[in-house]
Amino acid sequence: ATAADLGARLLAWYDRDRRDLPWRPAPGAPPPDPYPVWLSEIMLQQTTVAAVKPYYVRFLARWPTVQALAAADDAAVMAEWAGLGYYARARNLLKCARAVVADHGGRFPDTEAGLRALPGIGAYTAAAIATICFGQRAVVVDGNVERVMARLFAVEDPLPGAKPTLRRLADALTPTARAGDHAQAVMDLGATLCTPRAPACGLCPWMAACAGRRAGLAERLPAKAPK
Ligand code: ADE
Repeated sequence: ATAADLGARLLAWYDRDRRDLPWRPAPGAPPPDPYPVWLSEIMLQQTTVAAVKPYYVRFLARWPTVQALAAADDAAVMAEWAGLGYYARARNLLKCARAVVADHGGRFPDTEAGLRALPGIGAYTAAAIATICFGQRAVVVDGNVERVMARLFAVEDPLPGAKPTLRRLADALTPTARAGDHAQAVMDLGATLCTPRAPACGLCPWMAACAGRRAGLAERLPAKAPK
């Protein structure tokens, strides 16, 4: 199958079966503001969707804009974050909100490079915001995406060495149109069907094209180098 075929099948699946998440606008709605997307993406690092949801809703209710968050009391933010773990994320959250207000007039930069220059925003988060909020063609790679690529293309090289290969494959599949939906669809595929154990291949829009499944390897990929 060509990249265009795979992309079309993926988006058809996403349009039908996308997860309804509090930071995700309704299908067909205009792209979301960066503030809620940034907040959700930072919270989702190392934390599950189910755990993040109530925190995300409380944060957004208490600090509805980046200006409000920038003006927040450090202790109040740390207290609201309590339970999510990895507290460096919360400290960087405040630093980043204050940098957006102090250095960028309260508007997030609209390029990956501009976003990456902010505290706590790495390659993943910059790509996610650039594509979801600004429609740019950016390659978003997290653990879910790596697993989906390893299986779809039967990449047997173990992680972490295979990371550049998996990124290149994700890049080759990324379309120009609806790049943000494409990125979120691959992540949803990894989170809901192409799961680490017992993948639901029968429901997968990429089943017919999946080299890992054809080789009987899907569930064993990606391989991990022994520690
Ligand atoms: N995991 C982290 N961010 C996500 C997003 N925007 N869509 C789906 N899964 C995600």
